[in-house]
Amino acid sequence: MPFYVKRGDVPDKRHIQFRPSGGDHAYEELVSREGFSDIYSNLYHLHPPTAVKSVAEFEAVTIAPAEKKSHRHHHFRTHRFEPKGDWISGRRPLVFNDDVVLYVASPTDSADSSESGRFYYRNGNADEIIFVHTGSGQMHSMYGELDFGRGDYIVIPRGVTHQMDFDDGETRLFIIESRGPVEIPKTFRNEHGQILEDAPYCERDFRAPGYVEARDEKGEFPIRVKLWNGYQRYVLDHHPFDVVGWDGFYYPWIFNINDYMPRVGKIHLPPPVHLTFVAAGFVVCSFVPRLFDWHENAVPIPYAHSNVDSDEVLYYVDGQFMSRKGIEIGSMTLHPAGLPHGPQPGLLEKSLGATATNELAVMVDTFKPLRVADAVTSVDDPDYPYSWLA
Ligand SMILES: [Fe+2]
Repeated sequence: MPFYVKRGDVPDKRHIQFRPSGGDHAYEELVSREGFSDIYSNLYHLHPPTAVKSVAEFEAVTIAPAEKKSHRHHHFRTHRFEPKGDWISGRRPLVFNDDVVLYVASPTDSADSSESGRFYYRNGNADEIIFVHTGSGQMHSMYGELDFGRGDYIVIPRGVTHQMDFDDGETRLFIIESRGPVEIPKTFRNEHGQILEDAPYCERDFRAPGYVEARDEKGEFPIRVKLWNGYQRYVLDHHPFDVVGWDGFYYPWIFNINDYMPRVGKIHLPPPVHLTFVAAGFVVCSFVPRLFDWHENAVPIPYAHSNVDSDEVLYYVDGQFMSRKGIEIGSMTLHPAGLPHGPQPGLLEKSLGATATNELAVMVDTFKPLRVADAVTSVDDPDYPYSWLA
């Protein structure tokens, strides 16, 4: 994040002696991006962050692709999946390529009540965006706590040790695992990093972790480190949330989709006006309630289009999506390159004269083709490719 945040106690200078509350020496950890050449934070631990008690088993993870390989439009009704697991074991892969994996999860267990026992988690190879479709809870991390709720994009850069607890009620998550860093578009910022006047959000819309007192506990603390191809399990000899203070630009943060300020035009504006986050190989866009175009002959919904260089995923959150028929809340469509897509028959006529839309959706456009995971074929609508027949 291009904002400086400080929590708890930190020394006056980096890399000097530091005895919080006059006690034992604290252990500094620099967490930095692109070697030592990009954003970073300095964290001060009560125990050496390097102390590993045991290297446990490695669990390989491979995402099985769908057996039937046909190139077509897909409609996955993801809310038909039964809730299960915790915020990690409950994930079901939907589509994937070398840059990104998209999952849904509807966890029934908080970290405390997980069937696999309480554990800590850190993604070692990827950033994660967890979009909270329904539900609420708390994310506990080495940086402090974040309360989350409906509509939140929780952005967790790699290397952040954390856990998630959920409040009562149904939780539905749409998860984006990104091999490259997830960032605010550079075009939204001035040369000093401040978000520009005409960007769709500003610094006030972002939430950083709140301070939580350091946990000074020794014992056995299982941690699961996610790599691109599996989980490595370790046991630490101390509580991983033993940070007395930190400062810097690198930390988990939240932006709520309802804080996205949409742009509208006299005639239809294309999806780049909904741009929210960028990463290597894909972009994330937010479709939020907005007024429609006001040209006297405006067509409020999009024209058919062939994005010849990208696969397009839309996850439908709420409201009536004007350009799509037969969609449920929690549906996800995949419109691959090589095929045009657009509104189904009858929707253009229906949209004429409409002045506003209440649609809420998250779009992920990738620049490499996506593969469909086998896990999602059970909720794939076989008739969707024919939904454009009059
Ligand atoms: Fe599209």
